[in-house]
Amino acid sequence: MKFLVINGPNLNMLGVREPQIYGSDTYEDLVRVITDASVSAGVDVEIFQSNYEGAIVEKIQKAYGNIDGIVINPAAYTHTSVAILDALKAVAIPAVEVHISAVNEREAFRQVSYAGMACFETFAGYGFNGYVMAINALVKHLSDNTAQ
Ligand code: DQA
Repeated sequence: MKFLVINGPNLNMLGVREPQIYGSDTYEDLVRVITDASVSAGVDVEIFQSNYEGAIVEKIQKAYGNIDGIVINPAAYTHTSVAILDALKAVAIPAVEVHISAVNEREAFRQVSYAGMACFETFAGYGFNGYVMAINALVKHLSDNTAQ
């Protein structure tokens, strides 16, 4: 199984950016958490971060036929990007949404998630552990679906 983990804008600034919300661990720490969880789950993983909406759309398109599952934290594009939603729907690869912070308890504009409409599950407010939960949920989802 091969998974793609996508992180959107400003997540490369983890550790520096609003540590009271996102914690003091860095993006490199997050990459380590995702890599370790993937090894434990027995899946290959590609980890991608971009500050550009179009680059994220292209990455999702290129996953078609090559990737079994997507974990996506679209960051601010969560709340604005119909293009990322449409890309996820176009490739129809099982996807899970992650947010480090509890978006549901924050500003009203963070209550809408376009990408989430194409994801079968969302983990928000669990810090970096949300990515571990998402990888495990994808493994379970894919093994449940192939068993049928
Ligand atoms: C975020 C939440 C978004 O609202 C915000 O724009 C981010 C990070 C999170 O992981 O909590 O950049 O996706």
